[in-house]
Amino acid sequence: MKPPIFPHDVPFDPVRAAVVGLGYWGPNLIRNLNEIEAAELRWICDLDQSRLETFGRRYPSVSCTREFADLLADPELEAIAIATPVSTHYPLALAALEAGKHVFIEKPLAASVNEAAKLATLAAERGLTLMPGHTFLYSPPVNMIRDLIAGGELGDIYFISMSRVNLGLHQSDVSVAWDLGPHDFSILRYWLEKTPSHVSAMSRSCVFPTIPDVAFINLEYERGAIAHVELSWLAPSKLRRTTIVGSSKMIVYDDVSNEPVRIFDSGVMLDQPQSFGEFQLSYRTGEILSPAVRPAEPLSLEMDDFCEAIRRGRSPRSSAKLGVEVVRVIDAVDASLASAGSRIALDTRSALTA
Ligand SMILES: NC(=O)c1ccc[n+]([C@@H]2O[C@H](COP(=O)([O-])OP(=O)(O)OC[C@H]3O[C@@H](n4cnc5c(N)ncnc54)[C@H](O)[C@@H]3O)[C@@H](O)[C@H]2O)c1
Repeated sequence: MKPPIFPHDVPFDPVRAAVVGLGYWGPNLIRNLNEIEAAELRWICDLDQSRLETFGRRYPSVSCTREFADLLADPELEAIAIATPVSTHYPLALAALEAGKHVFIEKPLAASVNEAAKLATLAAERGLTLMPGHTFLYSPPVNMIRDLIAGGELGDIYFISMSRVNLGLHQSDVSVAWDLGPHDFSILRYWLEKTPSHVSAMSRSCVFPTIPDVAFINLEYERGAIAHVELSWLAPSKLRRTTIVGSSKMIVYDDVSNEPVRIFDSGVMLDQPQSFGEFQLSYRTGEILSPAVRPAEPLSLEMDDFCEAIRRGRSPRSSAKLGVEVVRVIDAVDASLASAGSRIALDTRSALTA
């Protein structure tokens, strides 16, 4: 019996799960599914025999296969977590859902809006859980900031500026917008509870001739908030820095700092003019708070939410709908890049309800 990391109000039987894709990221899913009480890791799968042998030795009670079909054919297997390259997400997830398995897919949900929406629709029709791996939705600092925004602490959100840059890892099959963008687009969606109304972007392919490795993306939201997202695999140092400016307070969220959230009681007021043309600005620089953030591994919380969503028949926090919305934003980024940075209007209705 594994120790409970996340005590559940009503305990449930562990979800019998598999992981497909044992490259860079998949081993993290394996470790967490193996550790949490809510799951029982039954299978691991990869086309690469040497990866299977490495992880087979590390997890001797788990069955290993190069054949994805073996997972589909196991009637006891309930859920499959997919951590393979983005172009394979749709065919693997489609086959898994058609075989009646619940599916977790690493970000992004799929390689196009059409594919993402089809998966979400199929999962809903079959009553299966489909969860995209938007890990930051389980990050304690991200959740602390979400609570502050939702509670009105910051006032109106004027703008958000995000930098996610470091040296590497260059991907050979997707652009930096498809690789790193899902993190920031999912965080923005979670905080603002909206998809942007308009997107514009510029990028450059500095290393591979056709794969953008730097992108500057602008997002506009209904009722005025704007956001800027800078993404790059080509930077001298690692930055994970977000500034949120509201009418009442401001926050700096630095994910690589040991003080990840700093709240500034700062702002500016435009005072009523005494007479025509005499505007007065008053700047306020008050306290800076650095609240303690409860440490927890986001991926462990994410895997636990996946299993609980399956057992309780409820949507996970990182829902299929949110995953489709994130793909819609990346798709709009691509459309803007293809038209020399033009401003692309997104239908603000969800692709699922449209
Ligand atoms: N949440 C995060 O922070 C995070 C971080 C990194 C990567 N990811 C995501 O994880 C996924 C995988 O990325 P990666 O960097 O680990 O890729 P990777 O190329 O390192 O590994 C992919 C693995 O999948 C295997 N594979 C490919 N097709 C397969 C198939 N049909 N059946 C079985 N195995 C197959 C490959 O042999 C390889 O071992 C991507 O969706 C990526 O966006 C998420």
